[in-house]
Amino acid sequence: MSRESIRIFDTTLRDGEQAPGCSMNLSEKLTLARQLEKLGIDVIEAGFPIASVGDFEAVRAVANSLRETSVCGLARTPDEDIDRAHQALEGAVRPRIHTFIATSDIHMEHKLRLSREQVLAEVERAVKRARAYCDDVEFSAEDATRSDWAFLLEVFGVAVANGARTLNVPDTVGYTQPEEYAALIAHLRENVPGGEQAVFAVHCHNDLGLAVANSLAAVRAGARQVECTVNGIGERAGNTSLEEVVMAIKTRPDVYDGLDTQIVTEEIYPSSRLLASTIGVSVQPNKAIVGDNAFAHEAGIHQDGVLKAAITYEIMTPQSIGRVSNELVLGKHSGRHAFRERLTELGFELEGEAFQTAFRRFKALADAKKIIYNEDLEALASDAAVQIDERFHVEEVTVLSGTFATPSATVALRVDGEPCKATALGIGPVDAVFKAIADLTETKSELERFQVNAITGGMDALGEVSVSVREGDRRVIGNGADPDIIVASARAYVHALNKLEWHKRHRGASEPKGI
Ligand code: KIV
Ligand code: ZN
Repeated sequence: MSRESIRIFDTTLRDGEQAPGCSMNLSEKLTLARQLEKLGIDVIEAGFPIASVGDFEAVRAVANSLRETSVCGLARTPDEDIDRAHQALEGAVRPRIHTFIATSDIHMEHKLRLSREQVLAEVERAVKRARAYCDDVEFSAEDATRSDWAFLLEVFGVAVANGARTLNVPDTVGYTQPEEYAALIAHLRENVPGGEQAVFAVHCHNDLGLAVANSLAAVRAGARQVECTVNGIGERAGNTSLEEVVMAIKTRPDVYDGLDTQIVTEEIYPSSRLLASTIGVSVQPNKAIVGDNAFAHEAGIHQDGVLKAAITYEIMTPQSIGRVSNELVLGKHSGRHAFRERLTELGFELEGEAFQTAFRRFKALADAKKIIYNEDLEALASDAAVQIDERFHVEEVTVLSGTFATPSATVALRVDGEPCKATALGIGPVDAVFKAIADLTETKSELERFQVNAITGGMDALGEVSVSVREGDRRVIGNGADPDIIVASARAYVHALNKLEWHKRHRGASEPKGI
């Protein structure tokens, strides 16, 4: 007997990317959306089309590109919002319009300045209009968990009566508790007029660290759609973490009796890594499921147990979420074929020059380093995935630093193919390198964030650096990887500057991969 399926609605590209430091451009969203489709997501919320031209274009590109997964656009209740969402979704095989309005007294009084009657009228108009465009309409009562329960019955009743078939009950401010939320879901399921025609959905924020617990409690109370994000990214403390909800349901069939998801769990880890390298925000080491330490057994007694029988301390296997073991995977004698196969397993589809660049760098790395880990390959691949004509290219980096020296750096770049060199002093070696690069490139941009990850263990770890750079209202992320962290920093900074240059030269053009 097949188990009843919980729909997984992914909002990484909408609620997730609203979080500071998590924004993505069109090509990054498209790459991630394709990975989410591979992951088996039921509905991808690709953006909020009325919010900006960029959001509109991103939803449109995702809608035009995905052929399996349902693609959703968010809209408030005004006609222009709904129309814009519809336009963005025109190319989707399975479009969904998701409309919302706040229903708590707090929001209605202070934010919307609308009465209950006015809100009900908005719901009716918006859902009706959305339904005129597509069959699949979701309605959300924003701040539902601080709304009056009797009013929620009315609101959802109007939404169903006008054709909404998914009713979402957001815990917008991360306020609810598992028992309370479960009781609310059960109450709504039993009492919303026409509620049996709809799927109840849950959308939780993590302000009190309860987003996953609340979502799971709601599932046990009958919710059949969970809204979540990869790595739990999202506004403030984040949204429900997709990987935690999915693996809880999979690991405890005894608790979530008869329920399952369509998620291809082996794609969880590649999705997490892809997102982290795209936005330059890595997950905390002890993050459940996808953190670096999630499967690491340090204590002797645990190691002994795991060696005797993994089940002693492992409730799921790393392989089940697509974490291939951290062994030597490729060496300097490996050829293009093996390299390409491994990249594909890790979620990277590199073609043409991007593939050749990655392969050349892999060979150089294999010469410099004894062991090549999967993480090394991921870093190389995400670096090489950038298919832009480079205005600036790092040729050489030399630094002098230490306790007795004022840090200085000499950097040789090619700028438009011409070699040039500059030396600069700095507070530290990275600062000196960045000053020399800024001098050579004459950039007007500001460095907003600099993050270093030693992404593989051991003394010969490959360092990955991510920088966030802003010029005017354009913000870009640059990534760089190298066994030498200073060189990785230079690459990351130059990568970001190349992206800014690309934007200056191609204003308004659609973006290539990696921009
Ligand atoms: O948190 C929230 O209430 C939302 C809605 C738009 C669903 O993100
Ligand atoms: Zn939200």
